[in-house]
Amino acid sequence: VTTRTIFITGANRGIGFALTKAYLNRREYRIFSSYRSPESSGQLLSLADLHPEHLIPLCMDVCDTGQIHEAAAIVRQYTNSLDILINNAGMLIQEDNFGDMTADNLLKTFETNVSGTLLVTQNLLALLKNGTDAKIINMSSEAGSISTWEKNIIGSYAVSKAALNMLSKIMSVQLKEKNIITVTVHPGNIKTDMGPENDTSPEICVGEMLELIDSLKPSDNGRFMRRDKTALAW
Ligand SMILES: NC(=O)c1ccc[n+]([C@@H]2O[C@H](COP(=O)([O-])OP(=O)(O)OC[C@H]3O[C@@H](n4cnc5c(N)ncnc54)[C@H](OP(=O)(O)O)[C@@H]3O)[C@@H](O)[C@H]2O)c1
Repeated sequence: VTTRTIFITGANRGIGFALTKAYLNRREYRIFSSYRSPESSGQLLSLADLHPEHLIPLCMDVCDTGQIHEAAAIVRQYTNSLDILINNAGMLIQEDNFGDMTADNLLKTFETNVSGTLLVTQNLLALLKNGTDAKIINMSSEAGSISTWEKNIIGSYAVSKAALNMLSKIMSVQLKEKNIITVTVHPGNIKTDMGPENDTSPEICVGEMLELIDSLKPSDNGRFMRRDKTALAW
């Protein structure tokens, strides 16, 4: 019997898919995992076929308000509450460095990483307000740390994650009185399509992410942290 609910965006590959598998091992969870295109989401959709009670795949581009509304409506058919939202979907355009940055790349990255997170969260807010110890995890990056930014970090991505950090701060203050904990997390440099040269596997990453999420207390609300819970500078 499922007693807890979680929504994970960008769950067809990378860290989002690893999070989905990890929560699937916790049989008390019903997991709503979103993906964009069925063609590139075979592993998620096959897993959902095997676990129909526990894993509900939802087709949702975080830049498409119609799809966000539809996904939220499907969640409401199953439950009136969400305990955890992981805003994980994100994008990075390589080689988009100052001097050669384009408005197009900047806006595209911003739309997914910032506006997408905003719209998904706002559409799921009524459900989160009914959640038990509700938590919002915004998957950011140390790339969005203004005080530690270094030359080799991609421009548009860094701008978008810095903006996401502010959005996350706003959520944490606005939702505090609703007893929703919001945190901004840098997952580490993880070996996925976004960082193929990194060493740490998504499975190692999410093992520690789950511990972090379990351990969140009201006093953590609004923090920017690594997955081992140490503080990052804004
Ligand atoms: N990997 C790292 O080292 C690292 C470091 C710091 C932070 N992060 C952050 O961690 C999160 C997950 O990263 P990852 O490494 O797992 O990346 P990834 O392997 O590139 O996966 C990105 C995921 O986001 C989805 N996505 C992208 N744009 C979307 C949109 N408009 N609507 C819906 N879904 C969209 C992708 O879906 P499609 O398959 O349809 O494209 C995919 O599921 C991101 O927010 C990233 O910025 C990663």
